[in-house]
Amino acid sequence: MVSRYIINGGKRLDGAVEVQGSKNSSLPILAATLLTKGENILFNCPSLSDVDIALRILRFLGCKACVQNGAALVSCDGLNKYDIPDEFMREMRGSIIFLGALLSRCGRALLSFPGGCELGPRPIDLHLKALRAMGAEITERYGIIECRADKGLTGAPVALSFPSVGATENIILAAVLAKGTTTITNAAREPEIRDLCDYLTEAGAEIYGAGEGTIVINGVDSLNAVSHSIIPDRIVAATLMSAAAVTGSCIYLDGISRSHLGSIIPVFVEAGCEIICRDGCMRFKAPERLRAVSLIRTMPYPGFPTDAQAPVMAMSAVSDGSAVIVENIFENRFKHVGELCRLGADINVEGRVAVVKGVEKLYGACIEAQELRGAAGLIVAALAAEGKSELHGISYLERGYENFDLTLGSLGADIVKI
Ligand code: EPZ
Repeated sequence: MVSRYIINGGKRLDGAVEVQGSKNSSLPILAATLLTKGENILFNCPSLSDVDIALRILRFLGCKACVQNGAALVSCDGLNKYDIPDEFMREMRGSIIFLGALLSRCGRALLSFPGGCELGPRPIDLHLKALRAMGAEITERYGIIECRADKGLTGAPVALSFPSVGATENIILAAVLAKGTTTITNAAREPEIRDLCDYLTEAGAEIYGAGEGTIVINGVDSLNAVSHSIIPDRIVAATLMSAAAVTGSCIYLDGISRSHLGSIIPVFVEAGCEIICRDGCMRFKAPERLRAVSLIRTMPYPGFPTDAQAPVMAMSAVSDGSAVIVENIFENRFKHVGELCRLGADINVEGRVAVVKGVEKLYGACIEAQELRGAAGLIVAALAAEGKSELHGISYLERGYENFDLTLGSLGADIVKI
């Protein structure tokens, strides 16, 4: 049964919500449990369809993996496979994050090539090049990636031509139990990388420079399961900030890490919002009329995150003035533009550049999400729009947003899941 949201926009929000745990931190840490002995407890693990797929993959591989009251319990002592079937890879291309850990633990890994997705081709050349440098023999044919490291993996210097988040994570997961030292230069610096390394260090890994551009990993003999609390989801926080901004609201976000929002907060301040952060809590107050943010460029962390581009574009659509949004990370991440225009937005796209001319009002319409963060942007716009909107394709949203209709409903939004 395909679900959809009915949203009656134009209502102010108020109150406080707890920001969920980070999807993009949970997934690599769930993959990292493959490397540990004993039972891991991951607190603040969000209940999402992507996390559910990762747990299903772990169970398929022979591990014990379940969620109890918001914590994931994972024990990989029973691992008895090293292949991830096509249907898992098709369902979540991010399953590639299991590659490095599987190869390290089993000396072998068999995954189908993670196809492209709604954002365009999602190459993994940086992942494979680094693993080869660490001694893996990798053949790619008939859509299958077959990896072997019969003599185990050996630490190596790896220079990333692009600070790829997934490649950085896969290299770290391959390096923590490898023989010798691995140095990653031009590593991704996202907070989720830092959280993965915090988890691995607690488990006994030797990692220096996590969150910096250069990360050094000295391989150790073994890792022990730990209890770890997943960091809050900075993209969900940015989405809630956008929802409050477009509805002229004052809301409170609990459980945020201000340092993770370093490039996000200034965008909302430039739009005229008032933001106060203290002890992991944010007070967010929108102005009567939003000012257009003149230029937003998505960049690797600590730059403005590509995952927040769609929600902030929705905010720009109802701001006073014109905004230029440049999407530098993915080549096809403007799919939400057409749907925003159905609500009355005035947006023109030329390649990687979108010019958003703010309008006074958006009007409810029937709209369709085509990718996760685009869905989030459409919800923000529907909350601003006068009248009723019907949003289809919310299965995309449920990959990354935990019970988002209930979260927004608790802030006073008129939103119903059918
Ligand atoms: C992670 O994807 C996130 N996913 C994405 O979030 C996020 O948008 C992205 O990082 C950028 O921050 C998870 O963490 C599960 P990349 P990832 O490797 O690792 C190119 C969401 O909405 N590239 O940093 O796939 C690639 O084509 C998702 O939660 C290569 O060319 O991102 C892209 O243009 C969407 N070769 C750029 O790098 C490679 O081998 C960024 O990709 C790898 C990547």
